[in-house]
Amino acid sequence: MNPKEEVKREKERLIDDYGREIRSLRFSITNCCNLNCIYCHREGEGRREERDREEISAELVIEIARVASDYFDIRKIKFSGGEPLMRDDLVDIVQGMRDFEDDISTTTNGIFLSKYAAELADAGLDRVNVSLDSLKEERYDFITSSSNNLQKVIDGIHSAIDAGLTPLKLNMVLLKGINEDEIVGMMDFLRECNKRGSGEAAILQLIELIPSFNPSMLTYEADFYEVEVELKSKASAIKTRRLQHRRKYFVDGVEVEVVHPIDNTEFCANCSRLRITSEGKIKPCLLRNDNLVPIESVDEEHIVNKLKLAMRYREPFFGKNLANHKITQISTRK
Ligand code: 5AD
Repeated sequence: MNPKEEVKREKERLIDDYGREIRSLRFSITNCCNLNCIYCHREGEGRREERDREEISAELVIEIARVASDYFDIRKIKFSGGEPLMRDDLVDIVQGMRDFEDDISTTTNGIFLSKYAAELADAGLDRVNVSLDSLKEERYDFITSSSNNLQKVIDGIHSAIDAGLTPLKLNMVLLKGINEDEIVGMMDFLRECNKRGSGEAAILQLIELIPSFNPSMLTYEADFYEVEVELKSKASAIKTRRLQHRRKYFVDGVEVEVVHPIDNTEFCANCSRLRITSEGKIKPCLLRNDNLVPIESVDEEHIVNKLKLAMRYREPFFGKNLANHKITQISTRK
């Protein structure tokens, strides 16, 4: 499309029936993964074996992103998986959308990050979120059901920082009896990362386990209250982010953000992302699979209509009434 046409078009906003505006798209670009983490919710999709690999095309990913940007002013993209770096065209996908996006990031388990970090940064990727739950080999192997990968992830994190894919967020899912005692160690690791980059190269995200996908995970639910009391006592500053009211603690030059996705009405109330599955279906809610909207062609009008249709299926999964009340307040804000 020529740029003049784009300027002329009045941008609509994608707002659901609860007043929640979509500000970012999250593409699961594959559901293949080279790890098999004990707790993984697989973005609400099942896990496929390599042989059953069926993935949304790079062309469709780029076209959905372009339409969302052109029509609805959505210019923030996140890739997730499976493991996004298992797709060898991720560099092309990023390159194909860099001109109409403000912020492109990807989650990754970091195993292939050394190989791709510089290339992805050159293509236009802004940031990465790396999953790393333990710095102890045996624990890492147990959590990920794999072996000989921890050092690759650490090297990957270093490469990402060197390539400027920062601030890098390190995702640590807290697991009772497994890695609860490693928060301090992880903060030391981040301090080293920050020395390597300039200033705040890496941030620790402590993530509360979502056990609902697998009831046997209930035994691993950690006590976040205690963790936060400890962080509070050590922090030189504490900030609360509007998004999900996440708290950030600043401890000796390291930023630690606490993420509580479960039973957190704010999680739904502030949900401003629309997910696209690896099969090219719009997924209005992470926690549901019964209201997916397939996108069947790269036709612009088709994509616009499907995005609008998916919006009508969005409703808060947690605390519908409370969320409704809060959102009414939020949506009156100009
Ligand atoms: N609970 C919390 N976070 C999860 N993730 C995946 N499964 C779960 C779960 N059951 C998140 C973690 C991980 C990223 C890939 O997805 O943050 O690092």
